[in-house]
Amino acid sequence: MDDSKYEVSHGADISIVETGAKHSSGGGLFDNIQARYAKVDPASYLRRPDESGTQYWGRRLGSLKPVELLLAEYANTELRQYLNWWQLTFIGIGAIIGTGIFVLSGQAAAQNAGPAVTISFLIAGIASAFAALSYSELASMIPVSGSAYTYAYATMGEFVGWTLGWDLVLEYMVGAATVGVGWSGYFKKFFELFGIQFADSWTEPTVIWEENPARIYYEEGHAFNVPGFVVILLVTVVLCVGIRQASWVNSVIVVIKLIVVVLFIFALCGFVDRDNYVPYVPPNTSGDWHFFGTPGIFAAATTVFFAYIGFDSVTTAAMEAKNPKRDLPIGIIGSLVVTTILYVGFCTVMTGAANYTELNTSTPVITAIEAIEERTGKSWMWLKVITAIGALAGLSSVLLITMLGQTRVFYSMAKDGLVPSIFAKVHPRFKTPYMSTILVGSITAILSAILPVDLLGNMTSVGTLLAFFIVHCGVIVLRFTRPDVERWFKIPGGKYLFIVFPILGMVICVLLIAVAEVSTIWRLFVWMGVGWIVYFSYGIRHSKLHRDPIGRFAEVHAHVEHSNNESYPVQDYDYQNRS
Ligand code: ALA
Repeated sequence: MDDSKYEVSHGADISIVETGAKHSSGGGLFDNIQARYAKVDPASYLRRPDESGTQYWGRRLGSLKPVELLLAEYANTELRQYLNWWQLTFIGIGAIIGTGIFVLSGQAAAQNAGPAVTISFLIAGIASAFAALSYSELASMIPVSGSAYTYAYATMGEFVGWTLGWDLVLEYMVGAATVGVGWSGYFKKFFELFGIQFADSWTEPTVIWEENPARIYYEEGHAFNVPGFVVILLVTVVLCVGIRQASWVNSVIVVIKLIVVVLFIFALCGFVDRDNYVPYVPPNTSGDWHFFGTPGIFAAATTVFFAYIGFDSVTTAAMEAKNPKRDLPIGIIGSLVVTTILYVGFCTVMTGAANYTELNTSTPVITAIEAIEERTGKSWMWLKVITAIGALAGLSSVLLITMLGQTRVFYSMAKDGLVPSIFAKVHPRFKTPYMSTILVGSITAILSAILPVDLLGNMTSVGTLLAFFIVHCGVIVLRFTRPDVERWFKIPGGKYLFIVFPILGMVICVLLIAVAEVSTIWRLFVWMGVGWIVYFSYGIRHSKLHRDPIGRFAEVHAHVEHSNNESYPVQDYDYQNRS
């Protein structure tokens, strides 16, 4: 069976097709590498009699989760397969439009790029577009939840997979905490519009972060950010109840959010003051290259990259999709295209409405409307109220999706034994990984209540850029090692030229990480260091693929057989009498 490769198609009739290609024949380095990737032999994970401890443990770090096993896992998921292409696109948009455009855009304009923040958005959009192509190809090939974590496990082995899974905590969990803080700002502003003031002590994060020089300190009188904390707990409840309800809530919110963004652009485009665009790229006068000038545009691009994070969340819902091979790429690329167009329009109007120097607030969009009110002497109360409601709704959907993403990544990691099995516990009635959801929700709520938006946001951006980098590597590796597995979507360019896209994507990721603040890059290293300690003290010991590879394959096999009366190819393997 080692010489064959298999393909699991899903749907009503799950079947496993033997395509019959040969991998291990022919000798040659390349054939051998391909054979390793195509291997579906559980015994190959065990320690060989002639293998030294160092060789065995070294091999474990690089051992791959076979694509076949992933496909079989999809085929027998306990999660409900319910989502179609437009719901997946809505999940993408729901996760994308949020704090990045409603909060960080103004801060990046005021601190780093001036009106040229629109160019920063374009740069970040291009970085995301490359990543979207890579994600789409992988998602159409391995439609399983766990997103980038799973792809990395299947392409570069367990250690890289773990690294990415740990890194994704920054994207999803820290990202959700960032959004919670942004939500709090708009919540406060909404009531202020009606003359109701909340005390800072219960609506601002406990600590403040200063970048230059880097320091974090307790802000006198700031106790706890209650609105951010509460909204995250509410989202946790929705996620525990179920994907069906979560998807429905998300769709309604996304419609509201889109209406508000479009309304903002069209209502205000006639009121921009062209003087606000001069200078379009404010000169750097501080001596620190992060602040204005051309380098400032790139520094801002790293910050506003946050605004695009989320399209990849579509892949975390793969197990719940009806036709993932076709619909995931549509969801990923569709949501990114829609939001990029909206962002460019939105930033152009916002920086034209108010001078960039005024936009360093927690609600820059409302600040922009107030600048127009001041200039024209006309009240735009209705737009301020609608914008605040839209922002609140929009940020809620980002929370919903990013937290959904985090729980599904942990779900996949727990299935692999890399984190405790409690993360994979599915609720008998709601069919959701509720324990994982409750844990993620509680930690996220606390982070959101204590930490400030810039600290959290920059961590999320660099963490995600690192994830995208690894995903680009993965797509290249799999093109050469598993050309046989069917891909509904392929990066254009043919057999070899496709490589230009992921490589350019990798270059942009490195560039944007490099222009982040030094302290942010340090925090990324520290976080990853902690992750590796956890892996070597827990993950590597509990990895199911290594502890009990035969049982792991048999478990998947039994599920597939049970649910389909079809046989999974590993049944040919004699589990009892392996040698
Ligand atoms: N892109 C999402 C946001 O801006 C994470 O809130």
